[in-house]
Amino acid sequence: MSILVTGGAGFIGSHTCVELLNSGYDVVVVDNLCNSKEESLKRVEKITGKSVSFYKVDLLDKVSLDNVFSSEEIESVIHFAGLKAVGESVEKPLEYYHNNITGTLVLCDIMRKHNVKNIVFSSSATVYGDPATVPIKEGFPLSVTNPYGSTKLMLENILQDIYKSDNEWNIIILRYFNPIGAHESGLIGEDPKGIPNNLAPYITKVAVGQLDVLGVFGDDYDTHDGSGVRDYIHVVDLSIGHLKAIEKIKDKPGVAIYNLGTGKGYSVLDLVKAFSKACGKEIPYIIKPRRAGDIAKCYADASLANKELAWTAKRDLDKMCEDAWEWQKNNPDGY
Ligand code: NAD
Ligand code: UFG
Repeated sequence: MSILVTGGAGFIGSHTCVELLNSGYDVVVVDNLCNSKEESLKRVEKITGKSVSFYKVDLLDKVSLDNVFSSEEIESVIHFAGLKAVGESVEKPLEYYHNNITGTLVLCDIMRKHNVKNIVFSSSATVYGDPATVPIKEGFPLSVTNPYGSTKLMLENILQDIYKSDNEWNIIILRYFNPIGAHESGLIGEDPKGIPNNLAPYITKVAVGQLDVLGVFGDDYDTHDGSGVRDYIHVVDLSIGHLKAIEKIKDKPGVAIYNLGTGKGYSVLDLVKAFSKACGKEIPYIIKPRRAGDIAKCYADASLANKELAWTAKRDLDKMCEDAWEWQKNNPDGY
């Protein structure tokens, strides 16, 4: 029996494939490569010495997805596939709703047809909107401010409705905080197209000399140094969280929701400092105005995942920066 990883060629998916293969699972990947390259899966095979069964298939292509389920013995699905850029989602809401929502509806329909009813879904801390307090617990009020966030919240609700209609489904929703870092081999990592929107890949591109200077979006937030605070989590810790979810999924029928974060908040300037240490050079930065839609502080209370999944993030900020740098310096142009 295999685990189907949708979006398995992407940043978090490829790292999760490594953890699954290293733990003895057979892995099937479905990815249309709209934001990734097949090379990432070749590297996964190099790291693990095991093979991945890869299908270049779009989730919107129901017939091809059906064929994958007919050809493979799939036990559970980890569903990463989706579009994820907040700003782009505001420009292209139709594309985001269609890809993320319809793609998931097609997936769940085909799963039901093949009687595969175990799914781990990638949600995001973005569903908490601007929280009244931190750390954030799973029971906090939910709100979203952009189409990307709306797709995550809608999909959480859709999955809950699927369970209500059929109690045989086992659903785990994982709300990620800010995944950064890379596999310590330096073979796989984050490979954004064009100029990165997110902080960590922007910093690594400055460090490797492809971008001149980092813009720090705001120094007047109510935080220890005025810059925004986030819960950065090593992508390998996040991937291990998925492994734990797959191990537990059938023990705990129903819908379970967990925050995956470290529980620690670091500012933009903290990250700049830690990255400078890791790469041994200064990261030039300038203070810019706040970015629209950003919040001051966002970090997790991850105690529920600790209690119920026996999971905790182990890698600290220095390790996140060291591994991200190892990946970037070995692969300045990505895959
Ligand atoms: P990514 O873009 O690297 O990976 C997503 C993968 O899905 C890509 O390989 C892409 O080609 C594939 N894909 C997209 N639409 C598809 C479709 N219709 N059919 C088949 N494949 C498709 O992104 P990531 O950072 O690895 O994120 C994985 C998931 O985690 C996403 O759902 C994302 O929204 C969620 N998430 C990411 C972050 C983050 O900061 N990286 C934070 C919270 C949640
Ligand atoms: N930032 C800068 N300069 C940059 C980029 C970012 O100062 O060039 C700052 C932001 O203002 C923010 C912090 O760095 O304070 C982190 O920003 P990111 O864009 O890296 O991440 P966000 O917290 O805004 O959002 C990310 C993903 C979302 C996801 C959220 C929670 O982009 O999709 O984490 O998981 F929902």
